[in-house]
Amino acid sequence: MHAALIMDGNGRWAKQRGLSRLEGHHAGLARLPGVLRSFADNGVSFVTVYAFSTENWRRPTDEVEGLMELLAEAVERDGVRLHEEGIRILHLGRMDRLSPALVESIQRVIHLTRDNHRLTLSVAFDYGGRHELLEAVRRIVSAGVPPSEITEEAIRRYLYTAEIPDPDLVIRTGGEMRLSNFLLWQAAYAEFYATPTLWPDFGPADVERALRAYASRQRRFGSLDPGD
Ligand code: FPP
Repeated sequence: MHAALIMDGNGRWAKQRGLSRLEGHHAGLARLPGVLRSFADNGVSFVTVYAFSTENWRRPTDEVEGLMELLAEAVERDGVRLHEEGIRILHLGRMDRLSPALVESIQRVIHLTRDNHRLTLSVAFDYGGRHELLEAVRRIVSAGVPPSEITEEAIRRYLYTAEIPDPDLVIRTGGEMRLSNFLLWQAAYAEFYATPTLWPDFGPADVERALRAYASRQRRFGSLDPGD
C-alpha cells in the first residue's frame, strides 16, 4: 500500500505559538520518523511526502532558504539512520533548481538506501504534477517514441514515480481540500482523506485513524459494486 501525505499547517501551528514559520517546518520535520514507523507497522510499504512544491519558490526568501537547509540537514543527519531502519529513499521532482551540494547529498542517500525494502520514502521536493507531465512529454518526444507506442504504461515509465506504485491514499492535514498539484496523474483513483489536524500535531493515532477510514471505503476504480 502507498500513502501520500500533503503536510499542511506548519505555518499556522507556529503562529498559534508565536513561533516563526520556519520553526513550524522544523516541528513538522520532527514528526516524520514516528509517522513513518507507524505506517510501516501498519503494513504500508510506500510513503510519499510533499515537502516543497514548484510553487513554494514564491514564498519569502528566508522561508525558501530555510526549507532548503532543512532538507539538507535531514539528509545529512538522518540518512544513515534511515538506512539502518531499512528505509529506501527516493526523490520526486526537479533537481535543476537545487544547489549542487544538495543534489549530491540527495543522490548519495538514494544510492546508500537503494536495496532497502521495509519502506520506500519518496520525498517530493521541488515537485509539481504539471511540470512532471511536461517533462515526461518532452522526454517521450526527444526519445522519438512513435504515437502508437505512447500508452498509459509508457507515460507511467517517464514520470518521477516510475519505480513506485500509484498512491492508494492521499492524506492532507491542515483542513484544506485540494490536491495542490500533487501526484496529478498518479492519484487518479486514490482515496482522499483530509483532517483539520495541523501537520506538526499529526501522530501515530492520526495515522491509524486515516488507515481505518481508508479501510472502510469501497474502491471501485470506475466500475460498479457486484450486485449493483
Ligand atoms: C505546508 O505548510 C508545508 C510545507 C510547505 C513544507 C513541508 C515541510 C516539512 C513538513 C518539513 C520538511 C520536510 C523535509 C523532508 C525537508 P504551510 O507552511 O503552508 O502551513 P500553513 O498553511 O499553516 O501556512
